[in-house]
Amino acid sequence: MIKKGIILAGGKGSRMSPLTKAVNKQLLPIYDKPLIFYPLSILMLAKIKDVLIIVNKGQLDQYRKIIPNGDNLGMKITYKEQSTPKGLPDAFILGEKFIGKSNVALILGDNFFYGQNLTTNLIKSSKLTKGAKVLLHRVTKPELFGVAKINNEKKIISIKEKPKKYISDLAITGLYFFDNKVVEYSKKLKPSKRGEIEIVDLLNKYKKTKNLYANFLGRGGAWLDTGSMDDYYKTSAFVSAVENRQGVKIACLEEIAFNNKWINKNHIKKSIKFYGNCDYSKYLQKLI
Ligand code: DAU
Repeated sequence: MIKKGIILAGGKGSRMSPLTKAVNKQLLPIYDKPLIFYPLSILMLAKIKDVLIIVNKGQLDQYRKIIPNGDNLGMKITYKEQSTPKGLPDAFILGEKFIGKSNVALILGDNFFYGQNLTTNLIKSSKLTKGAKVLLHRVTKPELFGVAKINNEKKIISIKEKPKKYISDLAITGLYFFDNKVVEYSKKLKPSKRGEIEIVDLLNKYKKTKNLYANFLGRGGAWLDTGSMDDYYKTSAFVSAVENRQGVKIACLEEIAFNNKWINKNHIKKSIKFYGNCDYSKYLQKLI
């Protein structure tokens, strides 16, 4: 079982400027919670308790105010600063010490997942012992994402970052599971034309040795990349619709930790004090 996870929560946020001039994108609200809660909840659903959050240099204090160290969730949460956005695989170079000899999951700080069977799917993926696994999802605008082409046996035959020419409509979502080779492979990557080390180059290293596997979110699943202003608000509207209709919260961290039996009622009482008088606290109160 993969027990460690990294959230890449830096980036310039240039597509959402001026909103992101003073505050990091992942701290802005998606409906009633900061965006960072959603990718963190996904790692928690995969039963990953040990998490490294990579943030921009100078923004650590902002993050620590909302997620101090994981004690309230029965988790271990640590931080590392990234000096400039050098590319997604930089997570494994910065995270080398954190990863140690383990296998590791990576989730991008701006990715939102929701759907039936998601937890089962996540737990299955986190059982990976060798190679790399990506989660694919059908989209209407594949040119905006990393894309995978698969054959009849659902094996990946090629991958491309934001292909101008159509190769497939299966996007590679921002959730990846890797074996320990990922550190060594990442260190060997050369920056692309846009000056970043690329996740597709890293995945291609696994593909070359026939160690790249695909998993599918399926039609019942929602995946939203909150990268652009429009998608950001669409995600917020989605969360609001589901939560208000069903009366359950998406990505309530304490609820997941409580269900995972990582924390008890006293932890939740402390969290209620921490958040203060708000709807989120009222929801926590109802849980206990
Ligand atoms: O969302 C899925 C897509 O994410 C994949 O389909 C693509 O293959 C992958 O390259 C990535 O594409 P984006 O264009 O969305 O990546 P972006 O540069 O926006 O970075 C994603 C998140 O990671 C964002 O929250 C900022 C953060 N980030 C990014 C880089 C490059 C960092 O914290 N540090 C970095 O160096």
